[in-house]
Amino acid sequence: MSEIRLNNVVKRYGRVEVVHGINLEIAHNEFVVLVGPSGCGKSTTLRMIAGLEDISDGEIHIGDALVNDLPPRKRNISMVFQNYALYPHMSVRENLGFGLKIAKQPDAVVAERVDEAASILGLSELMDRTPAELSGGQRQRVAMGRAIVRHPEAFLFDEPLSNLDAKLRVQMRTEIKKLHSKVKTTVVYVTHDQVEAMTLADRIVVMKDGHIEQVGTPMEVFNHPLNTFVASFIGSPPMNLIPARIEDGKVVFGDKTGVPLPNRLSEFVSDGQEVIFGIRPDDMTPEGHGISDSGQSATLELTVDLAELLGTETLLYTHLGGQEALGKMFDPRHVQENETLKFRLSLDKAHLFDAGTGKSVRPD
Ligand SMILES: Nc1ncnc2c1ncn2[C@@H]1O[C@H](COP(=O)(O)OP(=O)(O)OP(=O)(O)O)[C@@H](O)[C@H]1O
Ligand SMILES: [Mg+2]
Repeated sequence: MSEIRLNNVVKRYGRVEVVHGINLEIAHNEFVVLVGPSGCGKSTTLRMIAGLEDISDGEIHIGDALVNDLPPRKRNISMVFQNYALYPHMSVRENLGFGLKIAKQPDAVVAERVDEAASILGLSELMDRTPAELSGGQRQRVAMGRAIVRHPEAFLFDEPLSNLDAKLRVQMRTEIKKLHSKVKTTVVYVTHDQVEAMTLADRIVVMKDGHIEQVGTPMEVFNHPLNTFVASFIGSPPMNLIPARIEDGKVVFGDKTGVPLPNRLSEFVSDGQEVIFGIRPDDMTPEGHGISDSGQSATLELTVDLAELLGTETLLYTHLGGQEALGKMFDPRHVQENETLKFRLSLDKAHLFDAGTGKSVRPD
């Protein structure tokens, strides 16, 4: 069993604590993505799991074993880094088999595992080439192949796609997802790209400043963010977050405009409470250009400062409650600068966070 458990894991560099007591359980064969802004402790957490960094406090278990004091090579996990270094003078075949040879595996085992990895990754035709004769994506696959041949209990990936151009990134993202369904293993994958997190993960771990902010399936963190940080980090373009106050069953913004209190949230707030009203651009659409008109909604006339054409939709930069806010126009028509449009805000999809704590008012 290759489940991974972190109990109150702390990392200090000298006197500076950078990971503050993380608790996380990763199930056997689960694909977990650690996501968060630069410096939040993603790589440090991954490196502690790999054994490349000591942990300052707490426990890490892999399967049944407490691995706090086990060196990396005894943990039976493979790590694929951002900067994968292939041996330039070796063929693909030799690159794939090198680690096993060093570990003194018999030639027959090396050949078998290398062929297996090559066929999984579609490298069989390229075995005699050197890295210089490969594309970026093919090199990345060789780097993954080197991890696969070891038959590890878990794969750890640290931003493996960040050196690739945008198109290749998307392609490799799909390949990694397919790879996981072929080679069932536990994966812990680090990225600061929330789209990568959404598309790859069984569960997403959102981190900030050495803390875990939320753990959940992609749909959970997208639809039920526990706080304003997760709300603004997951989803692109980010959720609009507008300061407001609950007054007489209404959400009143700073400029005294407002919307009715969303029915499904009314029992969780009290009159006079300072809140943050959250609505995604997708749920703030001009009349006739939204996804669906059903459910509780509010209509507001808003002036469009700027329209950004994306093809199938247009992003509309406007102001809501005196704050800059973004709406979306589906099935778009031409919009003029400073044109005023009737926007429909889907209140069924809106969020309310306590202004003091930043936490969602709804205890999901
Ligand atoms: N060897 C070190 N000595 C001191 N501080 C360190 C060391 N390595 C990392 N840190 C600090 O620990 C914190 C977490 O770093 P970490 O590399 O885990 O961030 P990250 O989430 O992976 O960021 P990025 O997205 O930029 O890769 C940062 O504040 C960083 O400056
Ligand atoms: Mg990092």
